[in-house]
Amino acid sequence: MEQERFLSRREFTKVLGLGAAGLSALSRADAVENEPFAIVHGPVAQSPGAGEVNITWHTNRPAVARVLYGYDGALTRTAFTSRDGLVPNDSTCHAVRLTGLTPGRPVQYKLVAQEFKRYVTPYVVRFGDTVESDVFACAPLDPHKESFSFLMWNDIHDQSGMLKEMFDDADWDGVDFVVLNGDIINDPVSEQQIFNAFYDVCAERFGARLPMVFVRGNHETRGGLARRLAEYTPGRDGRPYYSFDHGAAHVAALDSGEDKPDGNTEYAGLVDFAPFREAQTGWLQADLESDASRRARWRIMLSHIPIPLAPDNCFGAQEVGRLWRPLANAAGAHLWLSGHNHRFFAATLPGDTFHTVINPPDATVRVDASPETLAVTVVQKGGKILHQQTITA
Ligand SMILES: [Fe+2]
Repeated sequence: MEQERFLSRREFTKVLGLGAAGLSALSRADAVENEPFAIVHGPVAQSPGAGEVNITWHTNRPAVARVLYGYDGALTRTAFTSRDGLVPNDSTCHAVRLTGLTPGRPVQYKLVAQEFKRYVTPYVVRFGDTVESDVFACAPLDPHKESFSFLMWNDIHDQSGMLKEMFDDADWDGVDFVVLNGDIINDPVSEQQIFNAFYDVCAERFGARLPMVFVRGNHETRGGLARRLAEYTPGRDGRPYYSFDHGAAHVAALDSGEDKPDGNTEYAGLVDFAPFREAQTGWLQADLESDASRRARWRIMLSHIPIPLAPDNCFGAQEVGRLWRPLANAAGAHLWLSGHNHRFFAATLPGDTFHTVINPPDATVRVDASPETLAVTVVQKGGKILHQQTITA
């Protein structure tokens, strides 16, 4: 004990076998420990539904979190998350789903987080400070809305500067939600990478007021933080894939998984996407046969990996084509938006009821949906229009 007391930080890290990187991590941990408890990232509204939306945000230390919400300035309702009966107190990542909202009506909300310091015993706990955010407003989706628009980007691969420039160039008029269609993060290995790749620029530009639909790409399934991605992009009902209805559209946000077979050496035996895609196929079939889908004027598919354009396209594309393309055609889908190929493509392929658009990394897709038409515009960074298509029912 005497010796420990006189170890310098340098000697201490040497004893622990920590190099410069370890020292840096220790310094950061010390710094965070000495900072006032605070909300440090977000909010970003995500995974919207009719009258529903997830509110996500992050604190600098673990906390118990809740959202106060309501209308006309009266934040009289409270929502919080519990899992299997337990209220989370051990995470800096917070996601609270607001439900039972009036579809289409902006709900006002405020984030509240109370630091959870420790268990003294299983029956005695220590809380720290409570922080509250400003009041924000976000409109949940509305299946009865007449017309709407959305924007989509994909394959950003950590280049948030480019994403931000495309945000600046985009036409946001009438936009009700934003789709990030995969490979936004390039193999997540750290929390800071996730924040830097997209979360912070989304929070800054639209995250508090417009819901984001995050569609997982194959590069988000790689890296040490891939298994914790749902803490940052929670999806819906514990799954990364889900559907939603807005205006006259039914939208299926799919998760195409990895692009190579599960046994590929690149994955070190750590992936199992075959049953994941099979289960999703059953879900998609039921979803597209649902009343909501059948009633919708437009059926829109979102998947990071596209349908195959040639027999030598990647395994993932072949699986998307084998499993989901027949379901989309049986349902009379109208539009399928993808990325992954890093090369622009748009066509209505023979035998398909839907128009396929594969967006490159440096372009913005804007979709304008009205009861009469579904209009798709793809604009390359810099302003060149790559594609315009108007679909009629
Ligand atoms: Fe990809």
